[in-house]
Amino acid sequence: MKAPVHVAVTGAAGQISYSLLFRIASGDFLGPDQPICLHLLEITPALGALEGAVMELNDCAFPLLQSVSMSDDAEVAFKDIDFAFLVGARPRGPGMERKDLLEANAAIFSVQGKALNKVAKRDVRVLVVGNPANTNALIAMNNAPDLDPRNFTAMTRLDHNRAMSLLAEKTGNHNTDVTKMTIWGNHSATQYPDLHNCLINGEDALSKVDASWYADDFIPAVQQRGAAIIKARGLSSAASAASSALDHMRTWVQGTADGDWVSMGIPSDGSYGIEEGLIYSFPVTVKDGDYSIVQGLEINDFSRERMIATENELKEERDGVKHLL
Ligand code: NAI
Repeated sequence: MKAPVHVAVTGAAGQISYSLLFRIASGDFLGPDQPICLHLLEITPALGALEGAVMELNDCAFPLLQSVSMSDDAEVAFKDIDFAFLVGARPRGPGMERKDLLEANAAIFSVQGKALNKVAKRDVRVLVVGNPANTNALIAMNNAPDLDPRNFTAMTRLDHNRAMSLLAEKTGNHNTDVTKMTIWGNHSATQYPDLHNCLINGEDALSKVDASWYADDFIPAVQQRGAAIIKARGLSSAASAASSALDHMRTWVQGTADGDWVSMGIPSDGSYGIEEGLIYSFPVTVKDGDYSIVQGLEINDFSRERMIATENELKEERDGVKHLL
């Protein structure tokens, strides 16, 4: 039997975690022969609800689940962990401005970055799901100076998956026929889902749809998909967010398929002129547990304008939390 991996999940009593924890424990993350120890973090008032979720985890009698611990202290929850799913975040409350939301979350992610720096395994891989995900990842990364900045990532895989499915549906294909989808930038309404390099069954995706559908329907539909789900369900996307979080981490460990790539929010190295250090979503390939930005893609004016707009939003978010960086 393999040694267990230690997986932390924050916001463990929330709705994304209500799907995520059970899928991690059942083997959907690293496969049916990888034992798991779960380390769950919540704020103190939510520990009671978390106990209920843990009772349910135990009631599933998952063969792979070796242990579950709960804490309201990040330094306890993150001790010696291999993976961190940072899902917990402060939602926007009544009367809260965007700036207040950024600040409230910045405070959470600076504490968690410091705790990771202090107690997590030195090669811990961190995925930030909680919004604003890119800037929260930036804050955590900046508060963990002893860890490799490349190990801090933000989730745009849900946007990537949404874009693949919407394109497949429009063209009468299956999502597995779609390759080389790209989400550039921020996990927000400024993100840029780019079809210029995307393929359907190996053929240029843009040649299969008309340009006005791409610009006027597809791009806004991907950007607004989260809002459409809230409108339909009365709640934000949860099971799909959990599923994409697993996809992100699994790809990071197991690699991308030959001839394909995925989108990940990662620290920019200046590729494509994006300011170095921002957490920006790029197309990446992953091999041997390490990701590389896909290089050499041609960027036309249409794409450049949108890539810069989402970069500018990330710069504004960063400038709003400068004191915590
Ligand atoms: P939720 O409100 O159901 O759960 C969040 C949980 O986080 C709550 O139980 C809360 O007590 C906990 N929490 C708050 N502060 C915490 C802290 N300092 N430490 C530990 N736990 C803390 O929210 P839900 O639906 O589970 O979503 C979580 C986050 O994920 C939200 O910020 C949401 O906007 C974001 N999200 C991101 C997506 C992405 O694609 N990147 C997609 C969908 C949601």
